[in-house]
Amino acid sequence: MSMRTSIHGQWSSRWIFILAATGSAVGLGNIWRFPYLTGENGGGAFVLVYLLCVIMMGIPIMMAEILLGRRGRKSPINTMETLAAEEGLNPNWRFLGWLGVLAGFIILSYYSVIAGWTIAFIFKTGMGDFVGANAEQTTTIFSELISSPGILLFWHSIFMFITIRVVSRGVSGGLERAVKFLMPALFVLLLVMVGYAMSTEKFLDGLKYLFIPDFNSLAEKNLFSDVFLPALGQAFFSLSIGMGAIMIYGSYLSKDSSITSNCFVIAIADTSVAILAGIAIFPIVFTYGLDPSDGPGLIFISLPIAFGQMPFGTFFGCLFFILLMFAAWTSSISLLEPAVTWLVESKKMSRIKASYIAGFIAWLLGVLTALSFNYWAFEFSFAGAIKQNGLFDIFDILTSNIMLPLGGVLVAIFTSWLMSRKSTVDELGLGDSIAYKIWRFTIRYIAPIGVLIIFLNTMGFFNIFSINN
Ligand code: PFF
Repeated sequence: MSMRTSIHGQWSSRWIFILAATGSAVGLGNIWRFPYLTGENGGGAFVLVYLLCVIMMGIPIMMAEILLGRRGRKSPINTMETLAAEEGLNPNWRFLGWLGVLAGFIILSYYSVIAGWTIAFIFKTGMGDFVGANAEQTTTIFSELISSPGILLFWHSIFMFITIRVVSRGVSGGLERAVKFLMPALFVLLLVMVGYAMSTEKFLDGLKYLFIPDFNSLAEKNLFSDVFLPALGQAFFSLSIGMGAIMIYGSYLSKDSSITSNCFVIAIADTSVAILAGIAIFPIVFTYGLDPSDGPGLIFISLPIAFGQMPFGTFFGCLFFILLMFAAWTSSISLLEPAVTWLVESKKMSRIKASYIAGFIAWLLGVLTALSFNYWAFEFSFAGAIKQNGLFDIFDILTSNIMLPLGGVLVAIFTSWLMSRKSTVDELGLGDSIAYKIWRFTIRYIAPIGVLIIFLNTMGFFNIFSINN
């Protein structure tokens, strides 16, 4: 049995781990990304595939990632190298850690820009900019924001700075308070928004759109590239898996805590927030005649209409964006942590220096995203779909649809095919029970084969499966 501890510290209790991991999972992915992808990729069918991906791949891979982290007790790069050596495997498995660190940088770079939009919206709602606004007005306010590179860069810099500050002080300090109070507050506020959505004319249309797959609307789409791949990517993105973020959090988890039950708590919390966000947003989208496939601006043009109409809307709106910013913050620190721990371990840097260096690189990369909505905007097509926001879309697709699922599948293969059964039994603490067997089966077969089929079909290998030929 491995009795290592991490040089970076340990969570003071199981609950802190759950809070931190939930803080990592719940973020812009749930409230900003999930609704707009649902709107772009076919509503109910997307949601259904998303849920299947969370259950059949997300949760088992999350368990595997935490298992590896806790066993290795190092940065993802060194954890992979150490565990590969212990299991008599090729040390090049460390490149799986590198893949994660790279994905983390790219995601953080644009994540910080979008979090910057959130901060800008705290002030806009707080100053009453949306009182009585209609869809056209909120669309204009949003377009003005994203066409101003200076403003985007300003808020991007502020957000990156606060992310670096937390990481430089060690992840657990401060995080506990942030997650304990702010996450439940965000949850309650989402319920308030759902309450408002219920009062709108098109509440039922919104619900139908989310929960009843409309196969006619898919007639124009390629099922794999337009529904399955984005849903798969969103499951990984939302659960923070496939890049070492949950692995590094697992490395601070004490040996006596149950990985399985922790994962279920985290995944249920994460999924509920995304679904609630969908229920709050789509009725507003339909009631005010917005287009669900409006893209990354969807929540920034739909929710402000609601805040402009509802009682105490200025207060609720401002609070909502503050809480969303905190949710983004507790996620962004987990994006930076894997790189920082590696710099501390392998380059013998102080945590502070490592945080500023890694954060600065991500910030630089983020400048490209900030400009991709204005100066450097260009259109391109990916697997048949037109994307309008140049580098932002490229970064987003490359990481969530390709790198995270690939990282996740490699984690699955490493844990279930290459590591000895004894090591995983020992770490999961499920014995040789039926739960263990289900986990091992899903991660051995369903996750790799599922991802492979989706990848190959997206690349057009089996056109036979696509709906539009
Ligand atoms: N899960 C976060 C969200 O939904 O906003 C984003 C994220 C954090 C993705 C950490 C990946 C990651 F490793």
